[in-house]
Amino acid sequence: MNETILVLDFGGQYKELIARTVRFCGVYSQIMPGDISTKRIKNINPIGIILTGGPESVYDSKAIKCDKHIFDLGIPVFGICYGMQLMCHCLGGEVKRGNKGEYGKVNIVPIEGTMSLRKPFKALMSHRDVVSQVPTGFRVTAHSENYIAAFECTDKKLYGVQFHPETSHTKGGMEIIRYFLYEICGAKGKYRLDDYIEKETVHIREHVGSNRVLLALSGGVDSSVCAALLSRAIPDQLTCVFVDHGFMRQNEGDEIERIFSKRKLNLVRVNAQNRFLKRLKKIVDPEQKRKIIGEEFVRVFEEEAAKLGHIPFLAQGTIYPDIVESGGGATGDVIKSHHNVGGLPGTLTFSQILEPLSGLFKDEVRIIGEKLGLPKSLVGRQPFPGPGLAIRITGEVTKEKLDILRQADIVIREEIGQLKKRPDQYFAVLTNCFSVGVKGDARTYDPVIALRAVTTSDFMTCEYSPLSHKILSKISTRITSEVAGLSRVVYDITGKPPATVEWE
Ligand code: XMP
Repeated sequence: MNETILVLDFGGQYKELIARTVRFCGVYSQIMPGDISTKRIKNINPIGIILTGGPESVYDSKAIKCDKHIFDLGIPVFGICYGMQLMCHCLGGEVKRGNKGEYGKVNIVPIEGTMSLRKPFKALMSHRDVVSQVPTGFRVTAHSENYIAAFECTDKKLYGVQFHPETSHTKGGMEIIRYFLYEICGAKGKYRLDDYIEKETVHIREHVGSNRVLLALSGGVDSSVCAALLSRAIPDQLTCVFVDHGFMRQNEGDEIERIFSKRKLNLVRVNAQNRFLKRLKKIVDPEQKRKIIGEEFVRVFEEEAAKLGHIPFLAQGTIYPDIVESGGGATGDVIKSHHNVGGLPGTLTFSQILEPLSGLFKDEVRIIGEKLGLPKSLVGRQPFPGPGLAIRITGEVTKEKLDILRQADIVIREEIGQLKKRPDQYFAVLTNCFSVGVKGDARTYDPVIALRAVTTSDFMTCEYSPLSHKILSKISTRITSEVAGLSRVVYDITGKPPATVEWE
């Protein structure tokens, strides 16, 4: 990769979104810790650097700081939110605590400048500290109602915005990033996925040699694409093990078996439902559930591998956001231990882990899947978390609760599935909140089920989908009459942030 944009991570929740937007614009991006040394930066030789937002103030002792010399490298730098404040602070400007914070959509009025800021627009803000005085040589290029919203020093190719151009909430945000890439960093925009399959095939063959590989196949997009890629690269050395942990949706296990037994794979299905349920007995903490399921998953693989003889490689469909969100390689807070990464126990007996998709974002994985000839219905599937329905049941997971959730989930998928314009992800969550109801003149006291339906292009941020009252009421009527053991249906109308897509 000779054209790279480095995204320096200061703990901001949008780092992946920034990196993905850059790739979407045709330039390869890589997320690195905010305090990376200039020596390492020089080795990577990026055409530009983007500083992400972050949760701290530049005056906080635990705030991640960059090496001040990155501003002297002659490489264009674009600071976003905390990244702008940090640039200001490092270069002798002034950052202060604002009288009030700016959170949500805010009007931005450009003054002058080159950063593609022309007409007033609405942008997403989320900050308390503010740039109160720009460093020498800088000029203010935009204001919000209260504060400086953007600055630049064109001589040194240093730019900063207080708002978040990477989110779809900022109108024209993508153009601002594109402007930075092409007009300021001089990108040529040659990043394409076209030769990824060829290159990765060669790499896998070299890396694996004549060894055998065991792939954890869940039937989700990531592991399916991984299976397709590996079966292309090393068809005779690959065994795919599908562990049915019992947290799949209705009939999903059989469907996965049907699809993959048709392909050129050595497919082994392990029915481990009871074993997983036993390990989750009395477990209510979401992170603990995730860790236990991830751990048990790998144990089952180890056992299967032992039965199959010596298999040194374990392949997984881990993708780039799994690694970043699990705190790997960068500095952000752990939001959720993703099943593929956080759940891996230290005692893993496979000598090597193979993760051929670990540098790709979800939309890139889908493109690769299609190029590998997987059906659209599989590649375009709604995401389904590795720990499955276990993290869609708040509180302890039991067989009875799973049965209830599956039935409610079918109703939701049937009803929403008929819509012309569907949300990007929709499912049911069985809560451990009980409420009183009345059925056939008798009092009931049963759990509440929540409907979640979100619209998103990246699954890193989302809005709740504004479903019509007609469909909401149909879903509610069907669930409460067709599924026994539920008291009422509620609709989750929270976006991400502040919530996440899944409840756990
Ligand atoms: P969150 O809940 O983190 O979800 O906002 C973002 C997207 O990721 C999916 N998700 C997972 N996918 N393993 C996965 O492969 C996991 O452990 C996991 N947890 C959440 C979620 O369904 C949503 O699409």
